[in-house]
Amino acid sequence: MTFLFNSDPERGAIFAAAFEAGLPDLPFSMDPDTFDADSVRYLLTWSPKGLARYRNLELLFSMGAGIDQFSADLVPSHVRIVRMIDEGIAGMMQEYVTLGVLALHRDLPAYLGQQAARQWQTLSPRDTRQTRIGVLGLGVLGKAVIESLKPFGFLMSGWSRSQHHIDGVSCHHGETGLRDMLAQTDILICLLPLTPETKNILNASLFSALPEGAALVHAGRGQQLDQEALVAALDSGHLRAAVIDVTDPEPLPSDHPLWAHPGIILTPHIASFTRPQSAAEAVIANIRRHRDGLEPIGLVDRGRGY
Ligand code: NDP
Ligand code: OXD
Repeated sequence: MTFLFNSDPERGAIFAAAFEAGLPDLPFSMDPDTFDADSVRYLLTWSPKGLARYRNLELLFSMGAGIDQFSADLVPSHVRIVRMIDEGIAGMMQEYVTLGVLALHRDLPAYLGQQAARQWQTLSPRDTRQTRIGVLGLGVLGKAVIESLKPFGFLMSGWSRSQHHIDGVSCHHGETGLRDMLAQTDILICLLPLTPETKNILNASLFSALPEGAALVHAGRGQQLDQEALVAALDSGHLRAAVIDVTDPEPLPSDHPLWAHPGIILTPHIASFTRPQSAAEAVIANIRRHRDGLEPIGLVDRGRGY
């Protein structure tokens, strides 16, 4: 029985040390060519490539929080997929979204334009207590960013598939709930997983349901965003600005219009990273749970797609 680590060697070394200390009886390997593929019961990877060779795989650990790369045709149905729930991912996402929301709230894209034009001009400041934030996705990351934004005094709401109850947050669900929330959102944050239902969800119709002058922070997945519709909404002035971390494709070609748009702050899918120390502890805890006959934390519902 082997645990195969299929990712970068720097993080692998930290995982190896954590496994040596926490699960010394489980052979740990970073090199798929040094042992029998049939012995692999646990695999940690970001890439779905070559999964078929591990015929006895039981748990497939995603190196990241997202699992959309593991489509049904690539992962046999008996394999259970576990997404990464790691305090490092949540902490970095809190930093990124707070950075994005404050940049939009304080008009950073417009001030960067003014700086480039050497223009000294004050724009009307906004009050956080009158600024409405809407979060798409109330999972591990959506809830984490809500907690980090609350102290600023923003008016918070969120949207999910099922009904949630979060202190101080107006929670919506379903199609009607989405429309209700959008109509009262000044800064929209997308932290949804990519599924057939959420593909292209950030489209022209959604943008038109936001109030004039609204802004977007998108840190979900590139395929959730209709990039042309975003540019059109910004060019028409309906949307004010956007902070975009994920695109389709990635990397974004150098001649793509998103790069140079004055209303967009673009980052190359860096909102969050899996931190090896805390991630290794999470994976070790899940293998122990699995051995004890318990469900791993972060087990993906393959029917739902997240
Ligand atoms: P979770 O699975 O914990 O949460 C997903 C949330 O989305 C849940 O609240 C769920 O609703 C909601 N949801 C899913 N489908 C729908 C739908 N059709 N309609 C309404 N709500 C829906 O995921 P995480 O919070 O851990 O991660 C979210 C995503 O963030 C990842 O899948 C990944 O794509 C992205 N990500 C991006 C990173 C980056 O660096 N840019 C880094 C890490 C993650 P319910 O609660 O009702 O189930
Ligand atoms: C993730 C990511 O899903 O980095 O963890 O996007």
